[in-house]
Amino acid sequence: MLRRVDKAWSASEAWNLLARSAVAHLGGAAPDGAPIVRPIHPVVRGDAVWFHGAPEGEKLDLVGQPVQLTAHEIVAEVPSYAFHPERACPATTFYTSVAARGVLVRLDDPIEKAAVLQGLMTRMQPEGGHAPIHADDPRYRNAIAGISVLGLVRPEVVGKSALGQRYTPAVRGQVLQALWRRGSPDDLRAIDRIVEAAPPDPWPAFLRGADGVRFRYDASAAARDDLLELLAAQYWNEGVSGERIVAAARASAAWVGAWHGDRLIGTARAISDGAKLAYLMDVAVHPAHQRRGVGGAMVDRLLDHPAVRGARRVELHTRDAAPLYASRGFGLTPSPAWRIAMRYDRA
Ligand SMILES: CC(C)(COP(=O)(O)OP(=O)(O)OC[C@H]1O[C@@H](n2cnc3c(N)ncnc32)[C@H](O)[C@@H]1OP(=O)(O)O)[C@@H](O)C(=O)NCCC(=O)NCCS
Repeated sequence: MLRRVDKAWSASEAWNLLARSAVAHLGGAAPDGAPIVRPIHPVVRGDAVWFHGAPEGEKLDLVGQPVQLTAHEIVAEVPSYAFHPERACPATTFYTSVAARGVLVRLDDPIEKAAVLQGLMTRMQPEGGHAPIHADDPRYRNAIAGISVLGLVRPEVVGKSALGQRYTPAVRGQVLQALWRRGSPDDLRAIDRIVEAAPPDPWPAFLRGADGVRFRYDASAAARDDLLELLAAQYWNEGVSGERIVAAARASAAWVGAWHGDRLIGTARAISDGAKLAYLMDVAVHPAHQRRGVGGAMVDRLLDHPAVRGARRVELHTRDAAPLYASRGFGLTPSPAWRIAMRYDRA
């Protein structure tokens, strides 16, 4: 049972956390009563969670005993100054966690064991590059026999989500603002999760614009097709594959997307070293939403983006949107006679 009801998390989300965790911890008591805690690699299959281990040893001693598996994910280390200008005490951690309780069992069927080990490989080596693990494959038969696979079938699963739901919407807004100011890549990834758990009110300006437009900074929040709808037909992307356009958005130091309801209506990004130079690229607004300030708002937010705001110079090339940038203080780049532009092209 969870003491704090406000932190309860749905069972399916808790299972998902267990499934995507590279490491979980197994806790139990040895036959002599001594506590045992060991890191394991969890593999979720259906309503069971499995892990592998040596053919003998401490973990096997726990078979038939009540055990607990736990995993957690730190979403944000929230600084004290999000809450108070001087006092250190309010500093806190936003996290999610899962605990699965049950009696440890051993898996003996080689077909089932092979499936668990293949599940482990799929998570640890998603790029493949090995023969799939099958019980009847002579390359794997001995290895499967020589490894033990233990786990919990239909355990009691309790999930916790502490993402600021217990604060007032106004304080959540302060937390989001503090994370944006500090701006590590982890902080930026946390922002969407916190908003999703419970929205702020009022919304900080970096997250909301006019007409209820919402800005997000994690490019994985934008579906590939939605990005391509905005970018694929732009003149500067002629001859660039959709795969490269999307990969560029996802890998940029700074990305901003504008949503109207559940529709992506704008995208912009910057590459940046954070100190000397940032370069704005792929700025586009859906034609039905142009001339309402969305493009300008995205550029403003990119200039203030944690990965860009420290850059001494911000550059871009444009064919016909110069007024948009000029109104924000961009000037023309002088082209001294001694400087020539060079490039190296790949197909
Ligand atoms: C350029 C673009 C991103 C601007 O987005 P937007 O949301 O319409 O821009 P805003 O509403 O914030 O415009 C702010 C100002 O920029 C200027 N501006 C915007 N688009 C312009 C255009 N096509 N030509 C000239 N000025 C333009 C105007 O001064 C405008 O202010 P105004 O509406 O008061 O006249 C959008 O028109 C677009 O996607 N165009 C096609 C792709 C493109 O050319 N991208 C630019 C790459 S550098």
